[in-house]
Amino acid sequence: MRLTIAIDGPAAAGKGTLSRALAEAFGLAHLDTGLIYRAAGRRTLDGTPALEAAQSLTAADLEADDLRTPDVARAASVVAAIPDVRAALVDFQRAFARRQGGAVLDGRDIGTVICPEAEVKFFVTASDDVRAERRFIELRDGGHDVTLGQVLADLRERDARDSARAAAPLKPAEDAVVLDTSGMDINAVVAAAIALVTDRTGIAPVA
Ligand code: C5P
Repeated sequence: MRLTIAIDGPAAAGKGTLSRALAEAFGLAHLDTGLIYRAAGRRTLDGTPALEAAQSLTAADLEADDLRTPDVARAASVVAAIPDVRAALVDFQRAFARRQGGAVLDGRDIGTVICPEAEVKFFVTASDDVRAERRFIELRDGGHDVTLGQVLADLRERDARDSARAAAPLKPAEDAVVLDTSGMDINAVVAAAIALVTDRTGIAPVA
């Protein structure tokens, strides 16, 4: 089966939840490409130069348990603005996108750069306040000592850097379906997305 679903959007918009749900519904592999940039950013915090960090990533780096911290998110967005770092990570993501059996990838440039030929593209977004609130709850529940104001400021700073960079900036592909999840229940978002994938591709969900 040839099916790639590309999901892009700013931080904490609901991309991860939607990606996992679509992967399960259609029996597809899932790659959270943010984790790759987080793993590279994480290594720079230990003093590894950014390009070397990207070129020498291993599967174990993607499984580190401290990739979800605000410091790592910031470091990820700094290394992600470096064109050579992005170039070093393209082949792996493209191969994953076109793997036999189909795939869902979520990130910032999946529909625009990594897989412009994806059969279905979503751009998932939500208001700054809604996204900050969701991320705040996640971080707080994970035991991080943060305030809502800090989380909002961090998200805005990261989105601004991700959108303004010259290399693969965060923006919707021209043919992406934009889903604003601000006032929507996540189950409704998932149901709408599943229906749209089936409508576009003729492929019915398996789960
Ligand atoms: O999605 P997540 O918030 O984990 O991504 C962390 C950072 O990695 C983003 O802020 C962005 O700078 C970078 N990123 C990227 N391109 C992707 C995925 C993530 O530039 N495809």
